[in-house]
Amino acid sequence: MTHAAETIRNIGILLSGRGSNLEAIARNIADGKIPNARIAIVISNKADAGGLETARKLGLAALAIPSKGKDREHHDREVVATLQQHNVDLVCLAGYMRLLSPWFVQQFPQRILNIHPSLLPAFPGLEAQEQAFAYGVKIAGCTVHFVDEELDHGAIIVQKTVPVLDADDEHKLALRILEQEHIAYSEAINLVLQGKFKIVGRRLSF
Ligand code: GRF
Repeated sequence: MTHAAETIRNIGILLSGRGSNLEAIARNIADGKIPNARIAIVISNKADAGGLETARKLGLAALAIPSKGKDREHHDREVVATLQQHNVDLVCLAGYMRLLSPWFVQQFPQRILNIHPSLLPAFPGLEAQEQAFAYGVKIAGCTVHFVDEELDHGAIIVQKTVPVLDADDEHKLALRILEQEHIAYSEAINLVLQGKFKIVGRRLSF
């Protein structure tokens, strides 16, 4: 007796920089840790993003859709059209340095994730690790959350903590947070793709 093949879900990754989270997700897919998923397309709003090079080396489809000088929704419409052409089911922001328009968010309800290098709601916005270090927190970390219309705001899916050590500086701390990001993002993708969650208010339960 044959079993119907499991549906493969298409992930679209948006980035603006070096792409280490993309690389970790790609590695985990290759290792079978994110079953029934593939990265269908990697899009950067910056043509010189290292993440595009990383994606191509991994054999992934990757392209730049430059945002410079474009109105936000105009750019978002180009990005969404490309995601749709690649039949993307789940959008993962991985160092994408652009706020999505409400229109973009509405195109993928509960299907856009972001990773942020702090324990939200502490330290949203830029340079979160530096903000946390300068504030003197003893516990830092990272958050994977659904994207809504507000910056670093949607319902939380996974958080990982990282102790701040006496010998730390903001760079050492950021590196240890990044190691946890690489674990947390794939965990969150699995949880969302399994679809066995519900959101009540801001609370996600499985
Ligand atoms: C990560 O620290 C992520 O949390 C933040 O941007 C950085 C992206 O790093 N949103 P990389 O490009 O995945 O290496």
